[in-house]
Amino acid sequence: MADTPNVTVLRETKLTRALHTAIRDKAASRHQFVTASNRLTRLLIEEALALLPSEEVTVETPCGPYAGCRLPDEERICAVSILRAADCMLGEVRAMMPSVAVGKILIQRDEETALPQLLYSKLPPDIAARPVLLLDPMLATGGSAVAACRLLAEAGVPPESIIFVNVLCVKEGLQAMASAFPAVRVVTGAIDPVLNGSKYIVPGLGDFGDRYFGT
Ligand code: URA
Repeated sequence: MADTPNVTVLRETKLTRALHTAIRDKAASRHQFVTASNRLTRLLIEEALALLPSEEVTVETPCGPYAGCRLPDEERICAVSILRAADCMLGEVRAMMPSVAVGKILIQRDEETALPQLLYSKLPPDIAARPVLLLDPMLATGGSAVAACRLLAEAGVPPESIIFVNVLCVKEGLQAMASAFPAVRVVTGAIDPVLNGSKYIVPGLGDFGDRYFGT
């Protein structure tokens, strides 16, 4: 997108459309929802990892040299979950990279001011030196995501080290993120047209956390 250049949208294939169809279908069982969203999360995380700085290396195959590259060791990477819904994604990240460092942030909208309020955070002490995968499955208004980036910036993380990974977003959220943190990169599964009056993504999929956790 021209006005949000740091956005990578997962390439649409029959597979990704089928996974989106499963998670968007309100008749999907929880098993179907969890399975399809986990599979989408894995594709998104692989896409995000491909954006990390790599070093050129040559290895020897049994038949000769291969000029390849290495991504940062998983122990150097930090995944930060914006509670509660991003814990759905964190499970997949940890299954892919068991020794990734983990941070958690709990942000809730203040009912009186409608502003995002930080309720809890726990981040690795050396997070400033790590590439950060910031996780939240739904980017709607962008309020929580921007507040989370602000907290990471206060902890010393350069915005260009942050890759915000989400399953679904709307342009409004992308624009909020781009205007507050233009250097933060976003990897998303799809961009839906609008938010409704209750700030749900339309057509979207409803409440991600409720459907994943069965609450
Ligand atoms: N969070 C959700 O779970 N769903 C939306 O549509 C927007 C935010």
